Amino acid sequence: MVCLGNICRSPTAHGVFEKYIYDKGLSNYIKVDSAGTGDWHIGQPPDPRSLEVAAQRGYDLSKQRARQVESTDFQRFDYILAMDSTNLRDLEKQCPAQYQQNLQLFLHFGGSEYDAVPDPYYSGAQGFELVLDLVEEASNNLLAHIVKQHSLPADQ
Ligand code: 4NP
Repeated sequence: MVCLGNICRSPTAHGVFEKYIYDKGLSNYIKVDSAGTGDWHIGQPPDPRSLEVAAQRGYDLSKQRARQVESTDFQRFDYILAMDSTNLRDLEKQCPAQYQQNLQLFLHFGGSEYDAVPDPYYSGAQGFELVLDLVEEASNNLLAHIVKQHSLPADQ
């Protein structure tokens, strides 16, 4: 899961998807991580507003610390999902040719009219609620896609 700062959107997607994986008993099959294209917040915990809105819905983001995308990420992950088109373009510039096919917009798996998760950093509380709404829907669909695509046990 990749956004700009790795303190709002991608930590939310990381925490939500991690819980969905755990709840389905698939933690031995699927690993999720997050990173930012930017370096401003390296080492910092998620934004307090993201922590709070996520906690209200039962997701614990508190152990996460921001990091920047690194070259080894492109070999390590089968799905590299960008929160918006700027993040995707930045990833495309760094990614070796053989892994470009693994890059995608996270909301490719969404179900609403949004194709990007809007950056909530300068928004009010409702921006953070919207992030959660979009992330929950796309995470549900993404998990179903991965289970099907990789023939994982579906009903644990
Ligand atoms: P994120 O949000 O990309 O969802 O983590 C942002 C966090 C920080 C900044 C921008 C977006 N910033 O400009 O510092």
